[in-house]
Amino acid sequence: MEPNATSADGVWRNLRPIPELTACDRALPAGELAALVVQGGLLRWAGPTGAVPAAYAALPQWDGGGALAMPGLVDCHTHLVYGGQRAHEFAMRLAGATYEEVAMAGGGIASSVRATREASEDELFALAEQRLQALLAEGVCAIEIKSGYGLALAHERKQLRVARRLGEVYGVTVRTTFLGAHALPPEYAGQPGGSQDYIDRVCHEMLPALAAEGLVDAVDVFCERIAFTLAETEQVFRAAQALGLPVKLHAEQLSDMGGATLAARYGALSCDHIEHLSAEGIAAMKAAGTVAVLLPGAYYTLRDTHLPPIAQLRAAGVPMAVSTDHNPGTSPCLSLLLMANMACTLFRLTVPEALMGITTHAARALGLQDTHGLLAAGRPANFVLWPFAEAAELAYWFGHQPARTIVRQGQVVQG
Ligand code: NIG
Ligand code: FE
Repeated sequence: MEPNATSADGVWRNLRPIPELTACDRALPAGELAALVVQGGLLRWAGPTGAVPAAYAALPQWDGGGALAMPGLVDCHTHLVYGGQRAHEFAMRLAGATYEEVAMAGGGIASSVRATREASEDELFALAEQRLQALLAEGVCAIEIKSGYGLALAHERKQLRVARRLGEVYGVTVRTTFLGAHALPPEYAGQPGGSQDYIDRVCHEMLPALAAEGLVDAVDVFCERIAFTLAETEQVFRAAQALGLPVKLHAEQLSDMGGATLAARYGALSCDHIEHLSAEGIAAMKAAGTVAVLLPGAYYTLRDTHLPPIAQLRAAGVPMAVSTDHNPGTSPCLSLLLMANMACTLFRLTVPEALMGITTHAARALGLQDTHGLLAAGRPANFVLWPFAEAAELAYWFGHQPARTIVRQGQVVQG
């Protein structure tokens, strides 16, 4: 918990909630300001300021001053824990190299694997906490953190332990995802059957050990030409299923591998990237309740031009989340609001879609739909107050850090 945090218990009056992100106990008449009641770290009541139940009258009173109120942000896809950085690859790509060419030349994920393996757990923590602080300062209250830059049991464990520790130290909900199948580790590269041998190790050694240590909330695979095949992906999904762990997938980012259809068959929480998602993949995701996670930061950095099928996802009613995909290669981004802006500008999401994408639907992509991403009674008190006249300002400004008040896990951590 941050050192200057104080309890947020009390009645927070004179707020303007965003209708799509709020479930009021008493309907809010047009133009009337809302109140939120926090008690014991939980949101107990939401409704018109004039109708706060008398039972709460003795609680501390907070005046929101007409601020815009939204649920705490949820960043549902990050690779936050890693050593080093990859600015030199940025320069290579500016000189004309593609992401795949950089990876083939020994850069890419492999270069972050080297730096992550060399770093101690404490060093990784110190690097990751700076990144986390930037996200928290914008109002992130829940975050997914993947492994996948260790690619060996001890190093994957190191990453996941750092992720857990970040959650404990900062009082933020962290969901860990094991992404052992992110890339072929260098010691397997060039070996006949190396990819299959590594996947066997992921399934039979790494995943069971890390799950037994309580370090794995979900399992992910990078299913792509430059990573793992559909058959290898399915093996990892089967291993996850045997342990009762939910799956997610880096799917159809650079090509249509049929990953989304496979993931949906395993009841995946989400399919992420999905620039090359097919109509069949969309139908399968809809049927399975799988969330489409849009990652405009990676699309932008790679100067991709192949848009994800937004209109078709919308028409099919597949929930769309938006995330930073924070990672050192394709999305060194530490602003979820910037991603909301890019989701609107690059992907043509509406403002309510983008805002649900970084709250309600992002929570669903992590299996946190009952506790996060919506202002509603009975949930942990996670909310952000903004000095904005209208909700569209959240996605409209970029590169701007206006003052705000953050309540995270029932504590006022800023403001
Ligand atoms: O989500 N797509 C694969 N993984 C990351 C990139 C990882 C890297 O380049 O280090 C992503 O974009
Ligand atoms: Fe990713």
